[in-house]
Amino acid sequence: MKAFALLAPLAAILSISKLALGQLQHDSIDAPDQGPGFHDVHGRGSKPNFIVFLTDDQDQRYNSLDYMPLVNKYIRKEGTEFTNYYTTSAMCCPSRVSLWTGQFAHNTNITDESAPHGGYSKFTEQKLDDNWLPGWLEAAGYSNNYIGKFINGVTQSRKYAPKGFKNTHWEPLVSPGIYTFYDPIFATNDGPIERLTGKYQTDVISDKSIKLLDDLATNKTDPFLLVISPTAPHDEVWFDKGRTIFTPPVPAKRHEHLFKDARVPRSPNFNPDDQDKVSWIQTLPKLTQDEEAQLDEKFRSRLRSLQATDELVERVIQRLEDHGQLDNTYIIYTTDNGYHLGTHRMYAGKQTAYEEDVNIPFLIRGPGVAKGRQNDAVATHTHFAATVLRLAGLPTPDHLDAPSIPVLAQDDRNAASFQSETFAVEFWAGAFMENKTFRSTQNVYKSVRVFGNGNNFFYSVWCTGEHELYDLTKDPYQIHNAYAKTLVKKPYLIDRLDALLNVLRTCKGQTCRDPWSVLHPIEEPNGGNKGGPLKKVRSLKDALNKSYDDYYASLPRFAFKDCRNYYDASNELTVPKSPPQEDL
Ligand SMILES: *[C@@H]1O[C@H](CO)[C@@H](O)[C@H](O)[C@H]1NC(C)=O
Ligand SMILES: *[C@@H]1O[C@H](CO)[C@@H](O)[C@H](O)[C@H]1NC(C)=O
Ligand SMILES: *[C@@H]1O[C@H](CO)[C@@H](O)[C@H](O)[C@H]1NC(C)=O
Ligand SMILES: *[C@@H]1O[C@H](CO)[C@@H](O)[C@H](O)[C@H]1NC(C)=O
Repeated sequence: MKAFALLAPLAAILSISKLALGQLQHDSIDAPDQGPGFHDVHGRGSKPNFIVFLTDDQDQRYNSLDYMPLVNKYIRKEGTEFTNYYTTSAMCCPSRVSLWTGQFAHNTNITDESAPHGGYSKFTEQKLDDNWLPGWLEAAGYSNNYIGKFINGVTQSRKYAPKGFKNTHWEPLVSPGIYTFYDPIFATNDGPIERLTGKYQTDVISDKSIKLLDDLATNKTDPFLLVISPTAPHDEVWFDKGRTIFTPPVPAKRHEHLFKDARVPRSPNFNPDDQDKVSWIQTLPKLTQDEEAQLDEKFRSRLRSLQATDELVERVIQRLEDHGQLDNTYIIYTTDNGYHLGTHRMYAGKQTAYEEDVNIPFLIRGPGVAKGRQNDAVATHTHFAATVLRLAGLPTPDHLDAPSIPVLAQDDRNAASFQSETFAVEFWAGAFMENKTFRSTQNVYKSVRVFGNGNNFFYSVWCTGEHELYDLTKDPYQIHNAYAKTLVKKPYLIDRLDALLNVLRTCKGQTCRDPWSVLHPIEEPNGGNKGGPLKKVRSLKDALNKSYDDYYASLPRFAFKDCRNYYDASNELTVPKSPPQEDL
């Protein structure tokens, strides 16, 4: 594919966004967006504590949470579950970095698990810990504590704490003992490496967490952030003669016998006979019966491995209660990215933008959070930093790519400050199937997810020039690629989705939070009512107004030049709509 000059309208868009970016350079801090009645939430002067349970590769779509009775008892029933919570990059390292920085991977440029395009070394080289949530909390007097997996690439020689944890408690799992369930290796700030052969990782993390909570209480160290990150239900990963081997996660001995009848839900997209996908997935052979059986076994191993995490959650919450701190603590339960098993014939893993890989658990309980509710407000890991800052009553840096999630019972999720209808899901790192030798270098894509006002779309542009469009209202399992048909029947819809993608793929701060403001920079009188309130285009529904058809039709399309395994800005461009598409 050849690079074309930008067409005028998009050039205009780009110069607007550059302008917006220019304004963001100096990291201005906004007044805290606390919402009405916020100061009453805690009912006391002190700042709340935060405990974050961060698991690894835990699915939402196969209902793994339903197999965790204690998480249900202590968090789901006592708090709110956000059912439309997503990661914006389906891989541990990019995803965790987005969580702590509040930025999309295209802004952190952490796009892979390990060096050169990701991992702890690239994280430190880019000094991402100069400007991230733990640092802002520390500056506000928080004691930050971390136990478990941070990101890939924390090794015995590269175990130093990032900023925000240097003077407090930093106890990461280090390679090669991150994913070895009965052979974990921990490091501490300055202390020795601790290898605990024969001890079960989650139980060790549980003991360490309890001891830490006791120390914090004894020392009256308050307020605090405590991150507890066991690696279940991630595969066990070990290294042998230069090879990386993935095997199913290992449960604690006491849980080995559970869930004998559980198996991967046979959803309509599980190992289908026919499929309508981009070429690398389209051409996957159907999984054999043997492979299906292996996936069911892996599914059971995953659920069993989560049981120790379930017990850990209960222990931590009970201890918090013993210390009289439960009422002043927000407890969040989430994971880094989702996981698929047999979906669209893909054996097992993550890395795609399909729902199984990106829609993930997010539960929160704490002061002011509604109990036993489900909330379908759209939220992502990029919303996490703003959410925590707001709950802590702290200002929100303007460069954050998403606003706070409306987590409090009093929040009006339709208020402009919470409105989040759309986000990008992006990926550059190729794909592989865990426990198989299969690799694809074509798993490079930018996609957009849009919800609300009756719309529920997924639109994706691939490095191969292929496209996908799913209308999830009609096709929740993303089985029928509606791109070609829609191009003929509703080209105006593709025009909008592609324009939105074009903004989101390079957005930053305000332009991520309100991408429509880039496409419709001028406020327009509401419904032509003279003197009526000004109404901006704020949603896909507003943008679908016929009066904008010509404008959207005139915009060029997003395309990759070719498939590259990192974020090279010169590989991602706009091209004029090609005549064959219009002629279809
Ligand atoms: C992202 O990082 C890679 C190195 O990993 C670098 O080559 C590339 O230019 C960076 N991309 C952007 C847009 O800065
Ligand atoms: C608590 O205080 C003890 C003794 O001063 C100290 O060794 C320990 O590091 C402190 N722990 C925390 C979590 O602050
Ligand atoms: C994958 O894991 C299954 C167990 O779930 C095992 O039987 C199989 O041999 C493994 N395959 C490879 C290539 O490691
Ligand atoms: C569509 O846009 C036109 C022109 O801006 C406006 O007069 C009209 O009210 C809009 N329609 C809707 C349904 O918003």
